[in-house]
Amino acid sequence: MLDTSPFPSRPVIPRPATAVGGDTEGLTLTSSTRVSADPEARGTLTWIQRELGAATGLSLATGEEASAQIRLSVDADAGLGREGYRLIVDGEGAIIVGNDPAGVFYGAQTLRQLLPADAYRDAPLGGAAWSLPAVSVTDAPRFRWRGVMLDVARHFVPKREVLRFIDLMAMHKLNVLHLHLTDDQGWRVEIRRYPKLTEDASWRSESQLGAGRPPVFDNRPHGGFFTQDDIREIVAYADARHVAVVPEIDVPGHSQAAIHAYPELGESGRIPVGTQWGIFEEVLAVTDEVLEFYRNVFDELMELFPSTYVHVGGDECPKEQWRASESAQRRIKEEGLADEDELQSWFIRQLDEHLASRGRRLVGWDEILEGGVAPGATVMSWRGEEGGVAAARAGHDVVMSPTRTSYLDYRQSDSHDEPVKVGTLLRTEDVYLAEPVPSGLTEEEARHVLGAQVNVWTEHIDTPRRLDYMVFPRLSAFAEQVWSAGERDYAEFEPRLRRHLERLDAAGVEYRPLEGPRPWHTRPGVVGWG
Ligand code: ACM
Repeated sequence: MLDTSPFPSRPVIPRPATAVGGDTEGLTLTSSTRVSADPEARGTLTWIQRELGAATGLSLATGEEASAQIRLSVDADAGLGREGYRLIVDGEGAIIVGNDPAGVFYGAQTLRQLLPADAYRDAPLGGAAWSLPAVSVTDAPRFRWRGVMLDVARHFVPKREVLRFIDLMAMHKLNVLHLHLTDDQGWRVEIRRYPKLTEDASWRSESQLGAGRPPVFDNRPHGGFFTQDDIREIVAYADARHVAVVPEIDVPGHSQAAIHAYPELGESGRIPVGTQWGIFEEVLAVTDEVLEFYRNVFDELMELFPSTYVHVGGDECPKEQWRASESAQRRIKEEGLADEDELQSWFIRQLDEHLASRGRRLVGWDEILEGGVAPGATVMSWRGEEGGVAAARAGHDVVMSPTRTSYLDYRQSDSHDEPVKVGTLLRTEDVYLAEPVPSGLTEEEARHVLGAQVNVWTEHIDTPRRLDYMVFPRLSAFAEQVWSAGERDYAEFEPRLRRHLERLDAAGVEYRPLEGPRPWHTRPGVVGWG
């Protein structure tokens, strides 16, 4: 498995299961190149025409199967495996057979990587020969959940940047975009029934700069939100690229913005939208009215997001307010609960029942294990691997996302030049070598590991340029962690990654150079933590 790609100047990332050839020239795309697709593969045909058409300036027009040079089809009986594909390029043409529409799409992603890196531009530079090496690739992913969480609550990420992010995920054969839509510092999705969530809670008066104590602030408002039409557009755009968008509304902690808009949701009267980073005592009340409110919110969310999985957060919910709250204590008594942990568990269980009654599945951060995990829950293990291990042993599905290997807001080196250094050291190499399946799980238990996810928390990522810096190239390394089976050796990966950076350059991604930050990447004076 460790042999380098047979076409070293155009390494495919993530590394395919098998790839042979590459020594000779295959097809060259020209103005007469035609593309055919059977009905199930038409989405990829459209994508090729749009994306490769823009980059090459070629029409890549639709042709009959008999005369087309690029042929796309689905064959569920070809034994390729879920999302798998076979790509064969020779002097006559390129054939992509997918196990399913996603497989065809991934075959086309591989085909794009076999072209010169300029295939990632949005317009042709002129003069390029769009030649492909003769190859035979057979490929399928190791995990079905290859996720990225984007925190659009701490700093809003505008729609156009989310769409671009989806393209970059698809380039890396990643398939779950988890949108963290709400937090103490902002509510980012329009809910028709409760307009104040975006009218009042989608912005804050100022933001903490860095993580120093005492806190310093930037003295300027920050805000933004997605309309329901924006969400529909994002979901459709992602779907065309085989990315499922999983929405998260974080409850019962991290809810200050919602409580600001509707104080009756909380235990503390009217409070401002959060301006500082951290964990705060202000949490939701556990009343029938609050549950009804969130059932209604999740109902609107489910109209917008067809994803099977719906994330309810559940992390970092301090229990002080519930200890002092009459209604919380009454609920504990009435339901025969042992303590406030069981109260949180009871609250999550109500949402689990609600989502399940609509055919959806609840996902939550690993705190949902405390006080007893809801029957239908999938657990996202972030405070290490322990939550994932416990949940898998209890027969629950898990997504692994431990801070130490998955938090892309964490520092990329120990240099003082890293912008707003937080968390623990997480180099590209560390992401590359991380193993999603915790050791110690039996084979049976390990089957509950759906895959892994990296998380991009944005307290200190306030612009799309900083997002690029923190996410790339670590996301390229992550792609290989979750897609490719077999051994991983960073010394083997790094030369391939260097070639891959040429693609990111062509796509206009402002990644962190492997050698370290450039002067304009630094943020002198903005203090981190950890
Ligand atoms: C988390 O990082 N609070 C899930």
